Amino acid sequence: TEAPTAGAPPARCPVAHGFDAMGDDYYTDPAQHFAAVRDEHPVFFYPYLNAWIVTRRDDAEAILGDWQKFTSGANSGLIDVPERYRDVMPPDLISQMLVGSDPPSHTVHRFVAQRGFTKARMEALQPEIEARAHRVVDKFEADGRANLVSDYALELTTQTIMAHMGLGYEDEAMMRQLRDDFFAVLASAQEPLPEPRRSEVWDRYIAATLYLREVVEQRRENPGEDLISDMAAVREKDGTPTLSAAQIALHLTEFAAAGVDSTTQAIANAVLFLDQNPEARADALADPGLWPRVFEETVRRRPSSTFASRQAQADVEIGGAQIRKGDMVWLALASANTDPTRTPRPFEFDIHRPEPEDHLTFTQGRHTCLGQSLARVQGATALKVLYERLPSLRPAPEVPLEFVRMALLPVRRNLPVEWDVADVARQQKKVLRQMDLTVLGRTEASDGVVALTLGHPDGEALPSWKPGAHIDVHTGVGGAGRVCQYSLCSSPARPESWRIGVLREPESRGGSIFIHDDVREGSTVTVSWPRNNFRFHDSPRYVFVAGGIGITPIIPMIEAAQAQGAEWTLLYGGRTRSSMAFLDELAAHGDRVQVRPQDEFGLLDLEGLLGDVAPDTLIYCCGPEPLLQAIEEATAHWPVGSLHTERFAPKKVVRTEPDTEFEVEFAESGVTATVPPGRSILEVAEEAGISALSSCQEGTCGTCETRIVTGRADHRDSILTPAEQDANATMMICVSRAAKGCPRLVLDR
Ligand code: FES
Repeated sequence: TEAPTAGAPPARCPVAHGFDAMGDDYYTDPAQHFAAVRDEHPVFFYPYLNAWIVTRRDDAEAILGDWQKFTSGANSGLIDVPERYRDVMPPDLISQMLVGSDPPSHTVHRFVAQRGFTKARMEALQPEIEARAHRVVDKFEADGRANLVSDYALELTTQTIMAHMGLGYEDEAMMRQLRDDFFAVLASAQEPLPEPRRSEVWDRYIAATLYLREVVEQRRENPGEDLISDMAAVREKDGTPTLSAAQIALHLTEFAAAGVDSTTQAIANAVLFLDQNPEARADALADPGLWPRVFEETVRRRPSSTFASRQAQADVEIGGAQIRKGDMVWLALASANTDPTRTPRPFEFDIHRPEPEDHLTFTQGRHTCLGQSLARVQGATALKVLYERLPSLRPAPEVPLEFVRMALLPVRRNLPVEWDVADVARQQKKVLRQMDLTVLGRTEASDGVVALTLGHPDGEALPSWKPGAHIDVHTGVGGAGRVCQYSLCSSPARPESWRIGVLREPESRGGSIFIHDDVREGSTVTVSWPRNNFRFHDSPRYVFVAGGIGITPIIPMIEAAQAQGAEWTLLYGGRTRSSMAFLDELAAHGDRVQVRPQDEFGLLDLEGLLGDVAPDTLIYCCGPEPLLQAIEEATAHWPVGSLHTERFAPKKVVRTEPDTEFEVEFAESGVTATVPPGRSILEVAEEAGISALSSCQEGTCGTCETRIVTGRADHRDSILTPAEQDANATMMICVSRAAKGCPRLVLDR
């Protein structure tokens, strides 16, 4: 978009030289940019928009309160619908937009629409929004960085408005595009669109409205519990629908945009403000009840829509400026909210203001924002979940000033953020999240092994994971039985589903038998999000060794090794060939894979494979305990850190001395307790009411991993490598104890 034309004679006076709604200063901080001109020109003419800009709050309120003198009609009346679409979108239809109409039409339309946006209804949506926000974070939390706008805020807000409208995932692409196209259409009333963009935008916008009209008609026939059905159900006394399908569809396009981009911008702005205001951030992290205030202060300090626009219906003087009938008047909300005559310390980001909602961001009067309750619930929830899951979240060192430059709604498209992945792992342990997945497929992978493919019931992408990750599967009817761990053996590049391989183990406590006998295609299973105790590290060379069902974590590792162009071999053993799962897939790798069933070849020849130390080589092994013991012996002469193992069952350790009593202080909870012989730290913590998650309770799953603040642990788990145990940074409190000679452990719980 071009800047104001230099040298063009101003149509009105005064003009604030230096004000530029297309310049970097405006996009960096609109309120500060207004403040630079407000004292000298509280109302000024801005030739670029061909409109008066009103900067003081008192003036803005006076205009918002007088819809007869200052109409909203021009907001839609000036939209220039292309000739070819005037039959489906005639001027008298588009002028009924809520954002661009006046009473009496506005009153009727708003009455119909607001049924779906009441405060009570929006607050009832909160748990659903929170669950959705977690699912969105699941997808990228392992990455350590994201574009907060597209990866989180737009994703969450789009899904929420779609769910509220009762639209399915097949409509997602259309809805994503619609939010952009609607704003382009709306802004075109003041800032004409250049070709060919104008044609492209209108083609898509009309196609979307026609589609939504059909949906409205369908909901009239078959209503659901959603906004579209609610709006379609409103009828006059004689039974005729109050609004036509075309009118409702028009409003749906408004909600698709307003309900998404403005909240998205607010979430991004909040992250920037919190970064600049560490005290506010610390307060909110300590007290989650403050997140609504963080959101409110964000939208006060930087409203997503910088302006509300009106058209003067009479000659009038405001702030010393002579405004004529027909002139456009833009109320600078960002400026009104930071007017020092009404807001003390206006540029301070203060989440403890006595009246946090004392601002004009959602405007006032008849056009006060219909979706403000949704924006507030969604914005506060989005921030709460984001910082709960990623407490070290911060903007990347370089934040680009990357905006779709529209004076009305400056749309930031990119806010790179980053966080500490180690920190995520700690958070995960605190809140063990679960989800219900559907069994999409079940196949016999070999004698005694079934492979289950799991997917989200709505087809949503599943959380990201890395090779070596496993999930907890809750077995038994309704998930009430044993919790079993299974490695993911699909591809991390396919987020639409996960696969696990389950060996029938008659000797076990019944989890695998339940899966074999009772879990079918279409069943629902409760699972945890992935955790990873068998991390795959980059290396130029790998040796993989798998025994039986231990092949499962190795499969994605092979894919990763292949992708990074590393050299690798796999030695795969099992009782018999027919008991070995996934042989058909592995056959594709030719002689890199050696299949060695015991009844044909005897025990695996680890000596032959690992007798000579190969430089820069990592060994990954998963299988039954005898195999793991054998490989530990066979690699004893390899450099420390070469061997990585994952066990199905705890390591057997012979103890010669009896356990002794020791003291443990849970630093975060401020509780100190005694751990007697025969009891675990985990049991003592649970008894003291300290939240400590656990799963296997035998030191093999990693759920109970806890950071050691001081003291030395006697590590008895089967997860940490000898080097990690030696480093003594964390311990598995279900099995490990205080080391001999250490009477007191201080733990981060
Ligand atoms: Fe599984 Fe402690 S609960 S390692």
